[in-house]
Amino acid sequence: MNQSQKPLDITARQSGQSGFYSDVVKEHFFHPQNFMENEEGYEADGMGMVGSPACGDVMRVWIKVDPQTSRITDCKWKTFGCASAIASTSMMSVMLTENGGMTLDQARNIKPQDIMERLGGLPVRKIHCSVLGDKALRMAINDYYRRQGEIDKIEIEQGRVIDKVLKITDHDIEEAVLEGADTLEKVQNKTKVGTGDPSCIPEVEQLIRFYKEKYFG
Ligand code: FES
Repeated sequence: MNQSQKPLDITARQSGQSGFYSDVVKEHFFHPQNFMENEEGYEADGMGMVGSPACGDVMRVWIKVDPQTSRITDCKWKTFGCASAIASTSMMSVMLTENGGMTLDQARNIKPQDIMERLGGLPVRKIHCSVLGDKALRMAINDYYRRQGEIDKIEIEQGRVIDKVLKITDHDIEEAVLEGADTLEKVQNKTKVGTGDPSCIPEVEQLIRFYKEKYFG
């Protein structure tokens, strides 16, 4: 194996001290780039939200897309996560929008390793935090395609498809309920579930009841 084929050791950049943050991480933590200040006035073309099973923290990513070039023209994010989540998502937002912006295909292929490489590594126990941003980004890309009616370009990573026409999963419904949608109408306002495939509505109603009970008692 030559040097260029070596797997990237993203955790061992800190002189062997894997518990410390690089200067780039600190810079992005103390001065986060593209942080969402005002959701109300922001007209996103796509939004994605994920929660971390490892720590329970939540990440949201919004994107604006030039429909002519399919390039990301703006990216904002917000998280309740830790310093590593803030620094990695801040760096991701810079990578997505620098040099004229990534295409949606390039953005979908961005890997946590690419972000960590630019950050100069992350402590090993913090790597799970860095995957939140790019997961939420891929959901935002799916949301963009859904809003555009380009359903064939949606790529499902998690969850079971409930609405086969719009490719909406139980995970999408769960996120909508977590965001406060507690009726079918409110979940439909957020996701459009059932508008293309009304036969799934009874199952959607069942899922709304299930997630309400699970999260709000
Ligand atoms: S510990 Fe939850 S995002 Fe880092």
